[in-house]
Amino acid sequence: MTLTPSTITLNSGAVLPRIGLGTWPLTGADAERAVASGIEVGYRHLDTAAAYGNEKAVGAAVNRSGVARSEMFVTSKIQGKDEDSRDVRGGLERSLTELDLEYLDLYLIHWPRPRLGRYVETFTAMLDLVDEGLIRSVGVSNFKPAHLERLISETGQVPAVNQIQLNTTLARLQTRECHARHGIVTGAWSPLGSDGTLLREPIVVALAEKYGRTPAQIALRWHVQQDIVAVPRSVDPKRQAQNLDVFGFALEPAEIDELTGLDRGEAAAHDADLEERT
Ligand SMILES: NC(=O)c1ccc[n+]([C@@H]2O[C@H](COP(=O)([O-])OP(=O)(O)OC[C@H]3O[C@@H](n4cnc5c(N)ncnc54)[C@H](OP(=O)(O)O)[C@@H]3O)[C@@H](O)[C@H]2O)c1
Repeated sequence: MTLTPSTITLNSGAVLPRIGLGTWPLTGADAERAVASGIEVGYRHLDTAAAYGNEKAVGAAVNRSGVARSEMFVTSKIQGKDEDSRDVRGGLERSLTELDLEYLDLYLIHWPRPRLGRYVETFTAMLDLVDEGLIRSVGVSNFKPAHLERLISETGQVPAVNQIQLNTTLARLQTRECHARHGIVTGAWSPLGSDGTLLREPIVVALAEKYGRTPAQIALRWHVQQDIVAVPRSVDPKRQAQNLDVFGFALEPAEIDELTGLDRGEAAAHDADLEERT
């Protein structure tokens, strides 16, 4: 059985847990409760964003947890309005104030927004904030290969992570091939498919029965076994723990391929619309 380590090393040298806790669309007390129980059951990687409006709650749970800051990996994302006003520093400082943290482990450009055409400038400004110690690693989200190629060729720098909508029904093979070529770690949002449909797919259910696991664990094992970092969201401490517990079994290579066979192609992605409106 091929065991997968529970962390992966980014091109910055930072070490990222392969399973993190998603926090969108939780806010306020719900978000704080979910993050607190997530930390309690063992999560050390949290995924938030300025646009989620929950950084205050996420930070409060981190700061009240008693877990050393150096043990936690906190990701946030710059929102469009800070790019619009060319205020990358202000955006980061507002996130750090909300979170009540001194630095972010990973700061992502939330969307490429190609019509604005400012992601190269934003990325460069974020790199300056790494030099100041306010960010440990810089990455992107929802970037397509063309956006990545432009970013890399114009800055000479490679983002540590590209977090994209990715699961067995949206396998993103071309984007992952681009990541592999450049040494970018693939991050997956909606790794469980968000609405539960994926967890009812017959092949997912059959593999869950075979391995004595849950459908969510099969879906997440497909990610971690292919070096994809996933940020499943759950408010339920039992499901949170279940989603973290995917390192003690391994799928056969043919089973990984069968799950990839659920891919419905890029047309199933939401980003074609979202890219324009965010
Ligand atoms: N970068 C971006 O643009 C972007 C966009 C969207 C999302 N994200 C990030 O990605 C995270 C995850 O995506 P998501 O929240 O859309 O969807 P998801 O994690 O794929 O699915 C969440 C849903 O699955 C349920 N669930 C969780 N664990 C389960 C289990 N073990 N068994 C059965 N059901 C389970 C949850 O319900 P319960 O809570 O009741 O367990 C919830 O309804 C977000 O929270 C956010 O942090 C990033």
